[in-house]
Amino acid sequence: MRTQHSQEYFQQAEKVLVGGVNSPVRSFRGVGGHPLVMKYGRGARLFDYDNNAYTDYCLSWGALILGHAHPNVILAAKKTVEKGTSFGTTTREEIEIAGHITRCVPSMELVRFVNSGTEAAMSAIRLARGFTGRDMLVKFDGCYHGHFDDLLTAAGSGVAMLAESSSLGIPRAHLNNTLSLPYNDTAVLKETLTKHKDNIACVIIEPVAGNMGVIPAAPEFLKTLRGLTKEYGIVLIFDEIMTGFRTSSGCVQAEAGITPDLTCLGKIIGGGFPVGAYGGRAEIMKRLSPLGGVYQAGTFSGNPVVMKAGLAALRLLNHKFYGRLNQKCEDFARDINGHFARENIGVHLSHYKSMMSIRFRKEPVLNYADAQTAAGGERYGQLFRHLLHAGIYWPPADLEAFFVSGMHTKKDLGQLADALKKFFKAGGER
Ligand SMILES: Cc1ncc(COP(=O)(O)O)c(C=O)c1O
Repeated sequence: MRTQHSQEYFQQAEKVLVGGVNSPVRSFRGVGGHPLVMKYGRGARLFDYDNNAYTDYCLSWGALILGHAHPNVILAAKKTVEKGTSFGTTTREEIEIAGHITRCVPSMELVRFVNSGTEAAMSAIRLARGFTGRDMLVKFDGCYHGHFDDLLTAAGSGVAMLAESSSLGIPRAHLNNTLSLPYNDTAVLKETLTKHKDNIACVIIEPVAGNMGVIPAAPEFLKTLRGLTKEYGIVLIFDEIMTGFRTSSGCVQAEAGITPDLTCLGKIIGGGFPVGAYGGRAEIMKRLSPLGGVYQAGTFSGNPVVMKAGLAALRLLNHKFYGRLNQKCEDFARDINGHFARENIGVHLSHYKSMMSIRFRKEPVLNYADAQTAAGGERYGQLFRHLLHAGIYWPPADLEAFFVSGMHTKKDLGQLADALKKFFKAGGER
């Protein structure tokens, strides 16, 4: 595979963009090799400037559940953009998509749109603090909720690449009110929430973690979390920025049978455009300005082009769509895990429906400590480069999840399975 044009563009990029990228893991520093510069995408494929085609399992970090350039989404965006790009007023597009989301996710009685997942999580936390009058927040090791100061500790994938445990530039005071607990550890959760119950404003969690590989929260853990937060008047925030509308239209909260107080969404709801949203119980949401005293605003929030494209995407995500996609993924996972077990290869595919990750050990991965031992490091880099050579584009970081879209065929997944089998046969992990 030749990537001469990508390399030339990337050299130019390094002269004008920090590290040649606008988000760190795109630099391939976690996997080695030359970063690719992409030209266009169609369906399940990405094409670089050397006209190499890649079957894309990164899918803009999970946003593109319909693959690249889905005609419905493109048409909706085109038609809307012709009427103007941004009005700075309420628009019908916002009302329509908010209505759709509140019908699909009933815990979200009221919604506020923002421009990124980071903004959604940051704002939900401010709202929880304003609502409760408390300062402390609880998160879980290995969960990533965007690059907001108060959340940037033990924060999984991209952050794990840093030499420091969290980012430089964060005043100590910002993290003094943050407690980061082990994921799936019910005993520590109980002890901590009980000890600090009068000071904790909120607990934020990825109900299926996707930034330390894929780790679903244990049902018992989530149940305890909901029970205790309710009892102590702590706001429970589900960060469904990655999981939202990925596995079903009710999101993970419907599948788990847990109703959070607030939910953060992003990625898929924008149809591939920049977006974030948070919403929840009306009683809490009404504390937001202009109804309440918690301030949060945005010049481009609820942009009509984004809203219309997002709604066009969401309208295609019905029961039948999820049924087909999830089944394809179950079949793939069964095939590949069966192979690893039969051949006694020391890896497994950890997955939750169409969110997946290869873990470099046989045993299940339950928390961030497990995830770090199972991420692969240099071996993951080798796997990444092997797949790239086979025309398969994966997330260039070993703690990221990879994703399957509705446009990936059984044949695509078969090619991925073959490439994985070839690699691990050669490597012989034990
Ligand atoms: C679970 C989760 N929350 C929040 C974010 C931050 O979203 P954004 O990158 O849109 O700011 C991400 C991004 O990957 C995420 O996976």
